[in-house]
Amino acid sequence: MSENITPFYDVDRTYEDNYAYGPFGAFAETLGGDAKDGVSDDQAARAVKESAVNADESATEPKESFFGIPVNLPFGIPAGPLLNERFTTAAFRMGFDLAVYKTVRSRAWGCNPFPNVLAVHPKSDDGILTPNSDECDDGVLADHRFATPISISNSFGVPSQDPDVWQPDMQRAMERAGKGQLLVPSFQGSRHDGMTAAEYVADHVTTAHLVMETGAKVMEMNTSCPNEGHNRLLCHAPDQVSTITEAVKNEIGDTPLIIKLAYLPNDEDLEYMVRVTAGRGLVQGFSTINTISAKLVDDHGNQALPGAGRDRSGVCGAAIKPSGLDMVRRLAALRERLGLDYGIVGVGGVTTPADYDEYRTAGADAVMSATGAMWDPFLARQIKQA
Ligand SMILES: Cc1cc2nc3c(=O)[nH]c(=O)nc-3n(C[C@H](O)[C@H](O)[C@H](O)COP(=O)(O)O)c2cc1C
Repeated sequence: MSENITPFYDVDRTYEDNYAYGPFGAFAETLGGDAKDGVSDDQAARAVKESAVNADESATEPKESFFGIPVNLPFGIPAGPLLNERFTTAAFRMGFDLAVYKTVRSRAWGCNPFPNVLAVHPKSDDGILTPNSDECDDGVLADHRFATPISISNSFGVPSQDPDVWQPDMQRAMERAGKGQLLVPSFQGSRHDGMTAAEYVADHVTTAHLVMETGAKVMEMNTSCPNEGHNRLLCHAPDQVSTITEAVKNEIGDTPLIIKLAYLPNDEDLEYMVRVTAGRGLVQGFSTINTISAKLVDDHGNQALPGAGRDRSGVCGAAIKPSGLDMVRRLAALRERLGLDYGIVGVGGVTTPADYDEYRTAGADAVMSATGAMWDPFLARQIKQA
């Protein structure tokens, strides 16, 4: 990874600016003057087609698959840094064959105040952050010194456009996938004060329905966002996840449903989650892990991110790779022991081709990189070359 590379998501700009003007760096170059400068949909679609024709993989049939859908390489970018169709199209052109469209909601939802991304520096020599360790509670240094191996914190609060905006954009994003490439929508339910449990389930179903209307071939439901209360993640309540996935599955029928899980340290908790979701045929795959919650402090020991409720935030990137691999290994062992056939999407700290291999060896059917890809837009090409 070069220190001079411009991340495709600019951490020095607001989320809104990134949405309006991104992506940046090599991702922007691969788009040329498209989309942002008012190029028509047909022209943009033609440009994508032409670039796909030039891609190596277009000469051959896709050799691998993702939940039964042919893909060139089961590698891509997970929910988060790909904010809209311009980002996902650029990702496809840069060789990421799986692109997850950032988590959407049933209604427009604002972003946490700027800044949303800080560099984090765990104390250990290897830069690894252990989930639920004293360091996570005492404070991890967070600042603007972005350096390799890259570890960051992201604090967005899962913003979403209104469905009237994201639905047509998501549909365009799907249409611009090249041969052997797949757009995966991510969604989650939204809570508001006074909401009943039944209304919360219904909000998931409504959002899944809106996603289905875009023509999704597979979808991912986020049960693990630490930004909505680090002790109140949905995936810490497996029976509730079971109820929600049952309702969602009734809505989406045969479309494969993946759920995004945070790191679950306890084997019994993980097995129970698997039994009440995949074991009941409600879920076809697990994508894991999301970020690891930690208190973030500046070099004076003060709260690093401004504002109430932001003393803790989610850490991702190189610091969390051992935790991601651990979840994948345990899910793969459970799959074997319980005789189930769910898919596993390995996420967390992938920054090199060797990391991709490590996740596949651990049992992941597909691998994704958010932080690593942000700082290395050529990562997919490097993995294909390797
Ligand atoms: C900028 C950014 C935004 C993210 N937003 C979301 C999101 O909206 N939904 C979600 O499920 N995960 C989100 N994530 C978490 C990633 O999908 C991923 O689980 C996590 O970053 C670990 O992968 P990494 O170490 O490759 O970054 C986000 C991550 C980043 C870096």
